[in-house]
Amino acid sequence: MLADKHILLIIGGGIAAFKSLDLIRRLRERGCQVTPVLTRSGTEFVTPLSVSALCGTKVFRDLFDLTDEAEMGHIELSRAADLIVVAPGTADLMAKMAGGLANDLASTVLLATDKRVLVAPSMNVRMWDHPATRRNLETLRGDGILFVGPNEGDMACGEYGPGRMAEPLEIVSAIETALADGPLKDKHIVVTSGPTHEPIDPVRYIANRSSGAQGTAIATALAGLGATVTFITGPADVPPPSGVTVVPVQTAAQMQAAVDAALPADAAVFAAAVADWHVSNASDAKIKKDKSGLPTLEFAENPDILASVSQRKKDRPQLVVGFAAETNDVIANATAKRQRKGCDWIVANDVSPETGIMGGTENAVTVISAAEQEAWPRMDKDAVARRLAQKIADALT
Ligand code: CTP
Repeated sequence: MLADKHILLIIGGGIAAFKSLDLIRRLRERGCQVTPVLTRSGTEFVTPLSVSALCGTKVFRDLFDLTDEAEMGHIELSRAADLIVVAPGTADLMAKMAGGLANDLASTVLLATDKRVLVAPSMNVRMWDHPATRRNLETLRGDGILFVGPNEGDMACGEYGPGRMAEPLEIVSAIETALADGPLKDKHIVVTSGPTHEPIDPVRYIANRSSGAQGTAIATALAGLGATVTFITGPADVPPPSGVTVVPVQTAAQMQAAVDAALPADAAVFAAAVADWHVSNASDAKIKKDKSGLPTLEFAENPDILASVSQRKKDRPQLVVGFAAETNDVIANATAKRQRKGCDWIVANDVSPETGIMGGTENAVTVISAAEQEAWPRMDKDAVARRLAQKIADALT
């Protein structure tokens, strides 16, 4: 799958740079051509000679190297690859990318490229958690930059937490997803996932038990078939998939705005468990216990995102898929819901407690369209996702 693909690998200055040497080896084993760019601080961690020997090609290092510019200019360097991979993606490189800086070869290539970029972040846990890095991450996700990792674990600096660079084989698999040449290549699909949080005051909110597992699995499966996926997720328990554009939101209103901004799309899959109401008298300040008695919450209806997209006159995706979680009269309720909302398919499931589906690893669904009902056997949520992704591919191609 990676044979004859061309990866431009930017190696930043982090202790995880040694893992990038193994990454090069793994990519070369799979027939990939790897062109390395080593940042100035990257050379403190790995030598140009070892990078060059493993890649079987020269290492690009300096923006103002006339020999390099004569051989291949930095603009051409940024366009010649199928994918740009930044590993280790340091806090500094992420900040430069988010700010649009171009003050060395790596940042200039990243600003000049028209290719997709996959970043494998690697940094100390406090740097990863710093509000500046959080802001940069959101900006970059919004720009369509793909991420793999970081993982949680012991760090070279002696601390523990998220910030460890993903392992080379995880990066290889994210590269495969990003370069997937499947039936959904050139198709853009929007997926909503997870719960929404509706604030009561700045510290309290109303939520639901959705883990985001099924939506995440669907986004992964669609990306695996080559789709460009915009994954709009409420605060979920499971980490977002790699190889997709992630748009994190909190409330139903934010999810609606993110979906509107992500359109047009060829298909949209609404797997999120969106709160039906929000608190219309939410307080700007923390509600205190005082003598005036118990607070009274007033509710207002949230926008129905699935219905609004299904009924769009302009930019309606060719295929709109909703979910119906029911506890009784599953098929009748789901069939009525499909018609009421106006979506093409509805994926119905029985979430009665005795099924163990809500919060569990398995699902048993019936896919209902205007023409038919397909009852699928009980299987794990990843298998449901792969089968649904294949059915979407069959419908769109
Ligand atoms: N949905 C949405 N926006 C909402 C509510 C739901 O996009 N504000 C989508 C969900 O993502 C899912 C489908 O609509 O695809 C579920 O419909 P919904 O009417 O919310 O189902 P239930 O929560 O099961 O509601 P009901 O009380 O009507 O059974």
